Amino acid sequence: MTITLSSLMSKYEPKKLADYTTFNLKTMTVIHGYPRGTFTRPLLLVGPAGSGKTQLAKLLAAEIIPGMTSYDIRFVDAAEDPSVKTIKSISQTVHTYARNSQNLRVVILDEAHDFTPQAMAALKGLMTKFPSVDKGVFFILTTNHLSGISNPVRDRCLVLDVPATTVDDVLPMACRVLDGEGIPYAIEDLRIALSKDSSGLATFRDMWGVIEDIITRRSMP
Ligand SMILES: Nc1ncnc2c1ncn2[C@@H]1O[C@H](COP(=O)(O)OP(=O)(O)OP(=O)(O)O)[C@@H](O)[C@H]1O
Ligand SMILES: [Mg+2]
Repeated sequence: MTITLSSLMSKYEPKKLADYTTFNLKTMTVIHGYPRGTFTRPLLLVGPAGSGKTQLAKLLAAEIIPGMTSYDIRFVDAAEDPSVKTIKSISQTVHTYARNSQNLRVVILDEAHDFTPQAMAALKGLMTKFPSVDKGVFFILTTNHLSGISNPVRDRCLVLDVPATTVDDVLPMACRVLDGEGIPYAIEDLRIALSKDSSGLATFRDMWGVIEDIITRRSMP
């Protein structure tokens, strides 16, 4: 059977917050603190492209509402829906519809720097009404550009850096995938393939690109 990248991604990508690994102690303390109730403010994840912000937001949302339904989590990509209408629609949802047994909803605002100034102002208003998880809404924002988030919105959030990942962060995952699929490799070649340049940085997105190259080469006659 042909192995496809999407099948590998759905097989190996972290499914639960417990599968999410990082060497950054602060990140671990904060993300595991939300399900425990230690942290309650809206969360703003800031980091470079491919560092895993969107994925972390989804894993955290799923952890905070066990047994959630599609009504419990609202995912918005501000790059696609940047206007104030988006925030008005979220506001209507959180005010109108009954909540689940946890009395909680999660609103993920991905690429939040793309909201228009009017949308950002409306978001500030909505966050003022729902300033913490115990008020019934958990906002998780992600951005590559902290300067694109208005000061009043930023001030209402706990700002967590999701640092750029390195070859050492992604190498174990690459090995897990290749070992799991019985695909042979030389660890030093894999390390070189994952290193874009001399900085030592490498994203999980790059890692999937390298894996795709390896499986494509293997399937060639
Ligand atoms: N800890 C991890 N383990 C395995 N795969 C990961 C991990 N973190 C991220 N990934 C994978 O890396 C890819 C990039 O992650 P993601 O889209 O969350 O990054 P991002 O920071 O939101 O990037 P962008 O700024 O471009 O939106 C995804 O395929 C994701 O599933
Ligand atoms: Mg993202």
